[in-house]
Amino acid sequence: EAAAEQDIFDGAIAADERIEPRDWMPDAYRATLVRQIAQHAHSEIIGMQPESNWITRAPSLRRKAILMAKVQDEAGHGLYLYSAAETLGVRRDELLDKLHAGRQKYSSIFNYPTLTWADVGAIGWLVDGAAIMNQVPLCRCSYGPYARAMVRICKEESFHQRQGYELLLTLSRGTPEQHAMAQDAVNRWWWPSMMMFGPPDDESTHSAQSMAWKIKRHSNDELRQRFVDASAPQAEILGLTLPDPDIRWNEERGHYDSGPIDWTEFWDVLAGNGPCNDQRLTQRREAHENGAWVREAAASYAAKHAAGRGE
Ligand code: 3HC
Repeated sequence: EAAAEQDIFDGAIAADERIEPRDWMPDAYRATLVRQIAQHAHSEIIGMQPESNWITRAPSLRRKAILMAKVQDEAGHGLYLYSAAETLGVRRDELLDKLHAGRQKYSSIFNYPTLTWADVGAIGWLVDGAAIMNQVPLCRCSYGPYARAMVRICKEESFHQRQGYELLLTLSRGTPEQHAMAQDAVNRWWWPSMMMFGPPDDESTHSAQSMAWKIKRHSNDELRQRFVDASAPQAEILGLTLPDPDIRWNEERGHYDSGPIDWTEFWDVLAGNGPCNDQRLTQRREAHENGAWVREAAASYAAKHAAGRGE
């Protein structure tokens, strides 16, 4: 019986068919999807903090409206992804408890501070740019609900990336001080953005299995290379330099070469020692506690409403 179900599952994966919530799936397939989707959702929610830091200080109403829309989008992406995770049989409050207890991760990138307004541009251009590189292939992920959530999320991410690029272009072509502010932000966000794609392939614990299950369609290093290939020419148009002196076009490879990444910094941030880890989790826990009354009110309304319907 189980062997037959495993064969059906393996056949579906091999035929590039979607696995849906009611299909049989190996426990390990379910577990790795819960791990990845939950941590993706946590990243979106925590990712609201660095940018919301600048909503009240945006330089114009137009920039404020764009930034508010983007931060609201991130919240929506998080809720979308928690819903995708729930189709695998986990509860949202369980996942949030794990985040708050440090037992589930969120993207390393959000443990860095947003020191100037130009950081909002660097995050849009580089962080959302890296997210798009990683999320477009996820639209073809073998698990249906996750792949479908990605289609909608990728459309909104491209708006996020374009507004960041345009913000940096405006600063870069502005006064010398504005150009310097944009360059400083790129200098601080480039390497952490390169780390977003995960450890090098030979240190990636999940890649082989995730690629066999067609959850991950390209390796960490492949997507990182695509990100460098896209960012280097854009930096030239922006009139900004990437803080990696080894970046240069390699005709033979048909790609840009780039310099070594400081993986000790990456593993240090994952261990909780990044510049903002404590601040991000503290703010997240406080937001959760301060929002308890909303959850209780919604739950009691739902219960009363259900009673009214005689359910
Ligand atoms: N930050 C934190 N943890 C990371 C990480 C990062 N940048 N990169 C890897 N890790 C963790 C992995 O989660 C894994 O730890 P775990 O076993 O406790 O989960 C460990 O490091 C080993 O890495 P692997 O390469 O083996 O792990 P994966 O196969 O899961 O690959 C990944 C990592 C590429 C991030 C993959 O999980 C993925 O594609 N996730 C979905 C995309 C995502 O989460 N993006 C977050 C970016 S933020 C965002 O999208 C918001 C946007 O609006 C900016």
